[in-house]
Amino acid sequence: MKWTASKLRALKGEQKIAMVTAYDALTGALADDAGIPAVLVGDSLGMTVLGYDTTLPVSMDEMVHHTAAVSRGVQNALVIADMPFMSYQPSLAAGLENAGRFLKEARADAVKIEGGAIRGELIESLVKNGIPVLGHIGLTPQSIKEMGGYKVQGKTSEQARQLMDDAMAVEQAGAFGLVLECVPAELGETLSKALTIPTIGIGAGSGCDGQVLVLTDLLGMSGKPVPKFVKHFAHLHGQIIDALQAYKSEVESGTFPADENIY
Ligand code: KIV
Ligand code: NA
Repeated sequence: MKWTASKLRALKGEQKIAMVTAYDALTGALADDAGIPAVLVGDSLGMTVLGYDTTLPVSMDEMVHHTAAVSRGVQNALVIADMPFMSYQPSLAAGLENAGRFLKEARADAVKIEGGAIRGELIESLVKNGIPVLGHIGLTPQSIKEMGGYKVQGKTSEQARQLMDDAMAVEQAGAFGLVLECVPAELGETLSKALTIPTIGIGAGSGCDGQVLVLTDLLGMSGKPVPKFVKHFAHLHGQIIDALQAYKSEVESGTFPADENIY
């Protein structure tokens, strides 16, 4: 069954939603084969697979290229494209045009946009023009320079109130779901109960309606330190290094290729 934004939204209160990032046809197909209902082509790809220090340098062309690849690998999962830094901030028209590219050129099903009340108008016009939107508040990495680091958001009651207003604005504007990144678990639960659309948490506690993790983090692929909210469901970094070293030593010793590997 092909997932749609409205089918995903209808899971709220019925079934917790497991979302994961995917960056190409290979990882999209893996998530799809695992029965994951929604994959996010996160601009985290700038850091996880393109080698940038932050998500800020990621371009529309890079995101379209990777999203198109994910779409080619996925049959059933909802494919959500992350709108990169400065693809929607400059104007409503820029946001509409760039979001449209993801559906027209990359076969995405929806887009994700960082920001709360400030994005209300954009979210509303995207939805009215046929583009489903996933919101994203709390820690928003495209604002890392302004936020002053990757820190938990909404710790003070004033910040928590602001996040509640932002969450409500995103729902009012017509988003089908909302990513909550790095907020206290109690606030994650409060926001989830206040909204009629599902919340997808990352570092936002178990009270959210779903969770999202970066694929390379959950698979333990990078070998680098990860934030506390990450769980390694596999330790692929060590396994891949072991495999590559075994290959190297067999090539060097002449044991690979063996009789069964030759024509
Ligand atoms: O870019 C990304 O992977 C994200 C998720 C972590 C929510 O925005
Ligand atoms: Na992102």
